[in-house]
Amino acid sequence: MVKKVILDVDTGTDDAIALMIAALSPDLELVGATTVIGNVPCVVCTENTLRVFDHIGIQAPVHQGMVEPMVRPDFDRPEVSVIHGRFLPLPETNRKATSLKGVDWLIDTFMASDGDITLVPVGPLTNVAMALRKCPELVNKIPEMVIMGGAHHYGNRSASAEFNIWVDPEAAKVVVNSGVPIRMVPLDATHQALTSLDDCAKFREIGTPAAVAAASFAEQRIKGYNATQPMKIKDTTPVHDALAVCAVIDPSVIKTEFIHVDVETKGELTDGRTVCDFAKRSGKEPNVHFAMGVDSPKFKAMMFDILSRTT
Ligand code: RIB
Ligand code: CA
Repeated sequence: MVKKVILDVDTGTDDAIALMIAALSPDLELVGATTVIGNVPCVVCTENTLRVFDHIGIQAPVHQGMVEPMVRPDFDRPEVSVIHGRFLPLPETNRKATSLKGVDWLIDTFMASDGDITLVPVGPLTNVAMALRKCPELVNKIPEMVIMGGAHHYGNRSASAEFNIWVDPEAAKVVVNSGVPIRMVPLDATHQALTSLDDCAKFREIGTPAAVAAASFAEQRIKGYNATQPMKIKDTTPVHDALAVCAVIDPSVIKTEFIHVDVETKGELTDGRTVCDFAKRSGKEPNVHFAMGVDSPKFKAMMFDILSRTT
């Protein structure tokens, strides 16, 4: 059965690959995308998302969301990132984001739905938390969220925090405690499924617009990771957000544990940490299926297969 999905993105090189997978997979119907502050300013994320859709001929709507985190105006915002650049290297779009604001579009779309749309947030959780705050009944209309975010063993924005959660920890706290069923794809999983320069060569050989774009985005990421946070295997990169979308298509691509997760919002050193109760010490009920494992060959095979498609 084809699954409906909405992606909430801060596009971004890995968001871009995730969007192409969601748009081209025969197992998914991409209802639309909302954009959020994150890798680059929100207006740039919106332009990048539209460029990606134009590049592969997708008409799905894009709705611009929150341009600031919920309560932290002092957020150290990246204007240009070594891993994402600023604007993606694709032609400028002529399309505009629709006038309905991202948060309101999420509320209207889920409330009008049959409760059959999976939400896939792969950026900071500001839009999702704002929507849940504004419309608490939304909880009953979202069957599942598959979130790229969080980290148990090590962070990437600080020693303990993963970027998406670190940008807006208060929003992440609202979301994980919302009662919506959640699968979380953290760094612990995404760093075990690395894309290499050889994989990029294979994307280029496949030759479709999506695969060639994926090659250039992944090559840019490899340069950025080599320069800032080299992976254990040289010349490789995680493609975080794509793994979350693949986990919607085929849940067996990740291995999860059902645990209680909360988010640190007051830590001097640990702000934005996803606190994972693997040892069941909190006495709190599990709320998140947290991925600590990944089937890396399956993930790669899915990317090669889906990105070889055209619209
Ligand atoms: O930490 C990885 C996440 O941060 C990904 O979603 C990436 O796009 C960045 O937003
Ligand atoms: Ca992202």
